[in-house]
Amino acid sequence: MHHFEYKNKELHCEEVPLSRIAEEVGTPTYVYSNATMERHFKAFDHAFQDMRHLTCYSVKANSNISLLRLFANLGGGADIVSGGELFRALQAGVPANRIVFSGVGKTAEEMKAAIQADILMFSVESDQELTLLGETARSMGKTARVSLRVNPDVDPQTHPYISTGLKKNKFGVPIDKALSEYKRAADMDGLEVIGVNCHIGSQLTSVSPFVDAIARLRNLLDQLKTAGITIKYLDLGGGLGITYDAEKPPEPSEYARALQKALEGLDLTVVLEPGRVIVGNAGILLARVLYIKDGPDKSFVVTDGAMNDLMRPALYGSYHVIRPVTQVDREPVNVDVVGPICESSDFLAKDRQAPRFEQGDLLAVMSAGAYGFSMSSNYNSRRRSAEVLVKGDGYHVIRARETNDDLIRGEKLPDFLLEKETL
Ligand code: LLP
Repeated sequence: MHHFEYKNKELHCEEVPLSRIAEEVGTPTYVYSNATMERHFKAFDHAFQDMRHLTCYSVKANSNISLLRLFANLGGGADIVSGGELFRALQAGVPANRIVFSGVGKTAEEMKAAIQADILMFSVESDQELTLLGETARSMGKTARVSLRVNPDVDPQTHPYISTGLKKNKFGVPIDKALSEYKRAADMDGLEVIGVNCHIGSQLTSVSPFVDAIARLRNLLDQLKTAGITIKYLDLGGGLGITYDAEKPPEPSEYARALQKALEGLDLTVVLEPGRVIVGNAGILLARVLYIKDGPDKSFVVTDGAMNDLMRPALYGSYHVIRPVTQVDREPVNVDVVGPICESSDFLAKDRQAPRFEQGDLLAVMSAGAYGFSMSSNYNSRRRSAEVLVKGDGYHVIRARETNDDLIRGEKLPDFLLEKETL
């Protein structure tokens, strides 16, 4: 459910026609619906109301500080994976005691910043990281609260690039090594063991891999209890999928029910790290058709939005519905929707039947709220797009379109190049 609908044949975000945003802000632009974000966050969070829980929105899905603030205002925390995400979360006003920090390659500098901020807990992903975190905390005269991210070796049945809970993936501590690492952590000064963490992958469309993972974690929890190690938090990561095309992922309520059943009898606070399910369908990429290139068996719709703006299709072959902003009665044709970048992987949609677009038309790439802007780049020296948050009949530019100066910020011509006049 989202708030992008046609009214009088014009696609709106809530009460605002997308054509108005295109006129006033330009294209390409990411447009988000505040009502959809709020609705998704609340639906997810309320689904867990019978359990002691904390919903830590996964910052990597869409890290604009306005969204982080929106979810913090609704009682949420943040799941972060870098010092940059820590900075964003703190700037946005997310309370530190609602921040959890995962990631296989945390640096000492990132650890220091998070210990200084006094975040809720680190999810440690290797023995060497555990050692460094202990040393870092001790050198600061502090204690870091930790969980170990456990790799349970379950198949999440999703795209291989976003599957993380298999033995062959780089993530977490193998479950059969976890107990000995926990014992080491428990004995280490500077660390306080408080949690167990597990994130098995993203865009999961069934609950069974989550349930399988919990069953394996329960064995570990039993062993930890026997070893006298007290666990207060069980962080189950993110991963719940959304509908891009015809997928039928479980509703948050069904997911929560399945988790609750699998967790029966455990006295723990459950931490959840949803990203995509909150923001995915709450955002679109608004782009304008620059040219139509008719070929023998398909027509290329060249837009001002490209793979640098939304790289999911290029990277994973992902499917995003394309909608015309103005509904028109035109013959459907076979099209590739492409951007101006010099790569054949620069497409937003491939081999689609779509009503014929014309030069100057606006289109919306749907379900682009998650891993859209946050994965965008300046490739081909394209300025990253603006981001707009719609609320009711008004909108707010929550990130200005980049300028040419932004493109070369930080770059410098060394003196030896300046010594010589250009010919
Ligand atoms: N927690 C951890 C530790 C994660 O690594 C992730 C996502 C999440 C939570 C949030 O997962 P979600 O609820 O959004 O599924 N760029 C890819 C997705 C990569 C996901 C990485 N980790 C895409 O565009 O599909």
